[in-house]
Amino acid sequence: MYVQKFGHVNLMKIHEHVEIGPALRNLWLDCMSRALNETSLPNETVEEVMRHLTKAAGTIGHDQP
Ligand code: HEM
Repeated sequence: MYVQKFGHVNLMKIHEHVEIGPALRNLWLDCMSRALNETSLPNETVEEVMRHLTKAAGTIGHDQP
């Protein structure tokens, strides 16, 4: 399994070189939301995925705008 072989993906670490603040985070989430809405996934699945992504995105970033 990927996780056993490489360990858990450290989102903080892989984004270290990017300045992520609330504005960029919201743009990113908006892109993800638009992309998901272009799929034929049921609404509840889209909402579930967005819930996870919002939580994950909230763990990344610094205090930049
Ligand atoms: C806060 C919103 C986010 C922003 C603005 C963002 C932006 C970026 C940027 C600019 C890169 C670097 C691309 C490069 O250096 O070529 C990157 C890499 C990456 N991001 Fe995000 N990201 C966000 C959230 C997430 C989330 C939530 C995930 C996972 C669910 C994710 C997964 C990844 C992965 C896997 C990479 C590639 C890392 C590598 O192999 O170098 N990102 N992201």
